[in-house]
This record gives sequence, structure tokens and C-alpha cells, in this order.
Amino acid sequence: MNITIVGTGYVGLVTGTTLAELGNTVYCVDIDAKKVERMKEGVVPIYEPGLEEMFLRNIQAQRLFFTTDIKEVLGKSEVIYLALPTPPGEDGSADLSYVLSVANQIGELLMEYKVIVNKSTVPVGTADKVRETIASKTSVEFDVVSNPEFLREGFAVEDSMNPARVIVGSESEKAQEIMAKIYQPFTNTGIPIIFMDEKSSELTKYAANSFLAVKITFMNEIANYCEKVGADVDKVRLGMGSDDRIGHRFLFPGIGYGGSCFPKDVKALIKSGKQEGFDFQILEATEEVNHAQKIILVSEIEKYFEGNLKGKKIAMWGLAFKANTDDIREASSLDNIKLLLEKGAEITAYDSIAEENVRNVLGDQISYAQDMYSTLENADCLLIATEWSEFKNPNFELMAQKMKSKVIFDGRNMFALEQLEDTGFFYKSIGRKT
Ligand code: UGA
Repeated sequence: MNITIVGTGYVGLVTGTTLAELGNTVYCVDIDAKKVERMKEGVVPIYEPGLEEMFLRNIQAQRLFFTTDIKEVLGKSEVIYLALPTPPGEDGSADLSYVLSVANQIGELLMEYKVIVNKSTVPVGTADKVRETIASKTSVEFDVVSNPEFLREGFAVEDSMNPARVIVGSESEKAQEIMAKIYQPFTNTGIPIIFMDEKSSELTKYAANSFLAVKITFMNEIANYCEKVGADVDKVRLGMGSDDRIGHRFLFPGIGYGGSCFPKDVKALIKSGKQEGFDFQILEATEEVNHAQKIILVSEIEKYFEGNLKGKKIAMWGLAFKANTDDIREASSLDNIKLLLEKGAEITAYDSIAEENVRNVLGDQISYAQDMYSTLENADCLLIATEWSEFKNPNFELMAQKMKSKVIFDGRNMFALEQLEDTGFFYKSIGRKT
């Protein structure tokens, strides 16, 4: 099938590459001419394990093309995916101006039946708005489908090639058939495709992300309570997760959730609830608890240093909002840095993948180290903010030699408590014994 993808951000690029990998001819459109040129030359604009290989393979196979001109490719495609940004407006609601402006353009260019697919996370009712916008410009037949994306950053290739399910929101039989054909390689291998109406599909995405945000936040509260009563959250997590109604995943406590999705989607669902006069109380509490959780270790650090962080040298391992990504949007590391700097601390950080993005935001307000051990030179304590694999089994002796004091605050529960035994380190993690 011939497919156009409008927008080559995270979702658009991964969706386009995946659809090419499934054997379709895919035209990716973006208004950023420089980015389009770079992609044509084979440069992947995002960091994502395994993506580059798949991207280059499909360019070489002449299944993946890039252009700035939607006019050039629209006529060639039966299906048009919209993967455009929906940033939060000032009040937290999703800004649909990019989506609707492209819908307008499509309406003006439409010459024959096409399926327009909303791939971005968009509020309930957006498919209707896209339909109205296109219909105001043309009398040609078309369908609008909601087909939300569930991939995780850092696992984009894995998740997009092997999704837990495909959700297709459309009541048009013609559109359902076309979508079923696109995803046939998945259904052939047993991946379910679930058809529903557009609104239910749009809400499924928000409900799934918000539920996971609540799940993590609930576990963070349990972890904080474990500390009060002397329980161990690792044990509680295993005990709870073994019930397959609960499951083991997304039960890992830490310094809060971040990234470009959970915070934005929780906010947007609260906001769209309010517009209907509906209060998502559980989500409001989740936001509040998560906000406090992100900086929970700052007060522990302050307590350790008896309220005085002036001139204290803090080493930080990890800046990305989670491992395997260079993304720092809503990263807990940034909240910690801001607060620690305000309190007079000096920070040296190490994150070889996300450093450049942090430099663009913070410049030289903090120092950057080239490897995990040189970060520790003369440090009063170490704060771990991202769970990169390279931190999992460090040389504690070497760490002790480098650091001024043997003190670790671990926001990601990287180490088993046994690893620290006999090392002489003070070790504070989340929900476990100090
Ligand atoms: C999330 C969802 O997992 C995807 O299914 C969804 O498609 C995506 O949002 C989206 O809407 O585009 P992502 O933001 O890439 O994916 O990252 P996650 O792996 O879900 O992690 C989100 C945050 O939760 C991170 O800050 C992570 O550190 C935190 N987390 C995750 C925990 O604190 N504990 C856990 O057990 C799991």
C-alpha cells in the first residue's frame, strides 16, 4: 500500500519506518526542510536503539521517502497518517492547531477517497473535528480513523514491530478493511486488532497512559510508606506483582515519572474532564504526588548535610527522563538540579546520551563529566537520577577513592542492598532500608 505520514517527530518517524518495514511504500512529509534533507541522506534525527538500521534498510529498498511537499505525495497515497505535535496549551489542554491546519490542507488537495489516520495522542472528539475541517473544503468521500500509538521511547522499534494490540477507531467498514490490511502482518502473528468507535479509541490512549502514571505513583506512595514502617518495597513489589491481575510491570518506585507523554496526557485528561464538568480526582492526586516525588531526595540530601548545601559538590549519574533515550522533557533530573542549585550546591553530571540536550537548556550552570567515575572526583555525594545499565554494577572501591565522602542517594533503586554491604557507603534509595 502507498502511505503518507505527515510529521516526522518521534511517532511519525517510527510509524513511517515500521510501515515501510511491513512492505508499504511510505512518503514522510515534514515542513522542516533541513531535517528532510538530512533524512534523505540517511541521518536519523532521534536516538532510538535499532531504528537507524531499519531506517537505512528501507531507504535503500526504496520503500521510505522524504519530502517537504504534501502536494507531491498525497495523490499517490491511499492512506494519510497524521503524526503532528499536540503540545499542551497554557491551560494544559492539547493544542490542535497543527493537526487542524494539515486537515485543512488535505481538504483542499483531496481528489479521490482516502483514509486519514490520527496517530498522535489527541483529545476525545478530535476525529470529528478533523472530519469537519476536511469536509468544509471538499465534497470528495473520505474517512477519518483514530489509531493511537503505544510505543515507549527507548523501545520504539521493539514496541512498534510487536505491539500488545492495535486499536482502530472507525465505524466505516471501508476504512476498517483498509486498516485491517495495513496491520495484517501483525494479526497474522496473533497480535489483536481491536475495532471501536473513534471516541473510545481516542480515550483508550489517555486512559492507558494515565492508568500507568497512577500505577507508578501508587507504588511510589507505598515505597514512601515502607520507609516509615521499616518494610522493603522490593519485597512488596514482588508480592503484589505476582498476582497477574496486578502484574510486575510499571511497579518500580523511583523519583517520579517524566517524559513527554505521561505528564502531558494526565494534564490533558484532567483538563478535558473539567470541560465536561467532570473531576478526575485520582489524576489530580497523581499529579500532586508525582510532583513531590520527583524532588523527594533533595530533602534527604539536605537532611544528611544538616540543612546546609552551600558549596556541597554533588555528582549526578543520569540526566535523561529514563534510560535508553536522550529525551529530557519533564525529567526528574532537571527538577533536582534546579532545587539543588538554588540551595547553593555545585553539580557535576554524567549522561553521555542526554548531555547535549541538557547543555542546550542549562548551559554551564552545571559541569559535565566524560565518564561515570570522573563525575565523582571530590564529590560530597552521588545522586542517581536515571537507570542507565552502565551504573548497575559499579566498582565501589574506585568510587570510594574518588569521592570526598561515601554517600549515595539513588532515585532509581539501582543496587541490591547486598551490593553495598561492607563497602562503607551511606546508601539511601526509595522505599528500602538506609
Ligand atoms: C509512555 C507509555 O509507556 C507508552 O505506552 C506510550 O506510547 C508513550 O508514553 C506515549 O504516549 O507516547 P514513555 O513516555 O516513552 O512511554 O516512557 P515509559 O517507559 O512509559 O516511562 C515513563 C516514565 O515512568 C519514566 O519517567 C519512567 O522512569 C517512569 N517509570 C516507569 C517509573 O518510574 N516506574 C516504572 O515502573 C515504570
